[in-house]
Amino acid sequence: MFILSIETSCDETSIAILSDRKVLSNITLSQIDEHKIYGGVVPGLASRLHVKNIQKVLRSCLDKSGISSLDKIDLVCYTESPGMAICLQIGKILAYTISSYFKKPILPCNHLHGHIFSSLIDRNEDLKFPSLSLVISGGHTQLYLLEDYDKIKMLGETLDDALGEFLDKSALVMGYKYPGGPKIEAKAKEKIFPKIINLPFPLNDKTFNFSFSGLKTKVFDLIKRKNRFDEFFDYSDLSYSIQLIAAKILVKKIANALIFFENLKINCLLVGGGVICNSFLRDYIKKKLIEIIKKRRIHMISFFFPKKKYSTDNAAMIGLNAYFLIKNKNKIT
Ligand code: KG4
Ligand code: ZN
Repeated sequence: MFILSIETSCDETSIAILSDRKVLSNITLSQIDEHKIYGGVVPGLASRLHVKNIQKVLRSCLDKSGISSLDKIDLVCYTESPGMAICLQIGKILAYTISSYFKKPILPCNHLHGHIFSSLIDRNEDLKFPSLSLVISGGHTQLYLLEDYDKIKMLGETLDDALGEFLDKSALVMGYKYPGGPKIEAKAKEKIFPKIINLPFPLNDKTFNFSFSGLKTKVFDLIKRKNRFDEFFDYSDLSYSIQLIAAKILVKKIANALIFFENLKINCLLVGGGVICNSFLRDYIKKKLIEIIKKRRIHMISFFFPKKKYSTDNAAMIGLNAYFLIKNKNKIT
């Protein structure tokens, strides 16, 4: 089965072609450079750039896939939600046009479910259920219980800012342009022994929810005071401390779920979303959770992290989600 998938929910125009679960091509055109000067994604501009670039992306995706014509495609799928409405509609219009012209079935997909399974791209293993998934992106921070590919229950989410949003805004106040997450990671690596700045741990409880806005205010305040009184820390100390507190919060919430669902014997943890490009977070989450699992004698889990190019928004993850839905006999409209 050849699957054509289209993703235009935010600032990446992305189209992929899969042969079952194998990605034949995945072309992503990022608009980051155009949005940088505004400090974040501007919806109207993003939508216009999707219109400008989408045909070019489709052409190179087809060329790279080795599929000679759209007629060979068996299923068209696209990101239906969540995302910016004026951006989503560009991908949806293209998907419906191809589907009606070539008389192919069409399947609307959920962007977050794409992120959930993105770590399974280019891997052949079948996922064991039940499993947990954490999605950490610019717009979302959510923890899920996965009972099957189409039985996904959200356990908790951020009550205010997403983790990526917190990183982007903190970086902006330090003077680093959007997207700030990679800048914070680079800054944090500068020192071998960074000074650890005490930052608050919001919602340090047994729930599955997150909160980052209080932390953001604390970071803004520290930067304001630093500029005024030249306090004794620099941005590599602050970046390292931000990463560290973020990692501790994520571990705590995942551990809450592992303990709460101990009887279910959770099999895997799948992490997705742009923020998991961060190597420090990957290593810390894995190391600390293994320590907790051993200490509490909980069922050992396997860890799935996406390749970096599939962490940020891409169409391949939407196509793979569609493949799993079809495999589980979900309806095609
Ligand atoms: O998943 P994504 O591409 O878009 C959304 O669906 O939001 O995630 C974008 C987010 C941004 O906040 C960006 O700063 C963050 O992912 N990000 C990172 C890194 N690379 C991207 N955060 C931390 N460390 C990174 N290396
Ligand atoms: Zn995303």
